[in-house]
Amino acid sequence: MPEFIDVAIQAAREAGRYLLENRGKISPENIDEKAQNDFVTFVDQNSEKMIVETILSHFPEHKILAEEGTRRSGENAFRWIIDPLDGTKNFIQNIPEFSVSIALQQNEEIIIGVVYDPVHDELFAAEEGSGATCNGKQMKISTRPFSRALIATGFPFKFKEYLPKYLLAFEEVFLKCSGMRRMGSAALDLSHTALGRFEGFFELGLSMWDIAAGSLLIQETGGIVTDFRGENHFLDTGFIIAGNPEVHRALLEVTKHHFSQTIQNLEKRHHAG
Ligand code: IPD
Ligand code: CA
Ligand code: CA
Repeated sequence: MPEFIDVAIQAAREAGRYLLENRGKISPENIDEKAQNDFVTFVDQNSEKMIVETILSHFPEHKILAEEGTRRSGENAFRWIIDPLDGTKNFIQNIPEFSVSIALQQNEEIIIGVVYDPVHDELFAAEEGSGATCNGKQMKISTRPFSRALIATGFPFKFKEYLPKYLLAFEEVFLKCSGMRRMGSAALDLSHTALGRFEGFFELGLSMWDIAAGSLLIQETGGIVTDFRGENHFLDTGFIIAGNPEVHRALLEVTKHHFSQTIQNLEKRHHAG
């Protein structure tokens, strides 16, 4: 039987090739709006089909949770969590920042995480307990302090009711760190944090497939990843903070400060929705 990581890498590379072939070919009639500001194209859907086919050809009993609708449930302990194109808006607008994200969960634990950026041919891969690599080279999270940190984030464009609190948190982080970026692919934000290009990342309202693979990359490179309360519910709630230990602590202080009153309700609401 092939190793899980090899299958994840094969599937991510195949899908990445397909994304590249179709880059710049999206016309307005190819774009559907699943919900307000949440777009999908035939490329997202076909990429998902390819990934699922590859995985099931090796592991037909495994469960699947994929963004564009593939669901396989059952008793099996293994579940693949797939974002076939993270950064759809960038892809549609031909901005070269998008990725494929594939994670494998055993019971509740993420044991494999692979993120592939086909434009730059960068493959980020982690196996639980074995560290994480970028194109085969061991990665290590940055040790820069918060005052000199570059912090990635994402805007809560699907959850505008959170905007006032998000903006307060953004302002506090912005005033204390050295710079901020909004790149448009949460999976790559986490990958670049694991690689040390960013010192930290925070966003709210994400889905499991955006962050499952990237969260393992962070953990395997010596970083910390939690939700906005410092707990472990980031996969379920989509509220996530990641970074080197000092930066994570600083971001957590900010999110606790601005979200402490309402975080429980917000998390429950997001989880329910
Ligand atoms: C999106 C990206 C983006 C984040 C959004 C996600 P999609 O994923 O990760 O960076 O801000 O919230 O939905 O829709 O392009 O797969
Ligand atoms: Ca996504
Ligand atoms: Ca997606």
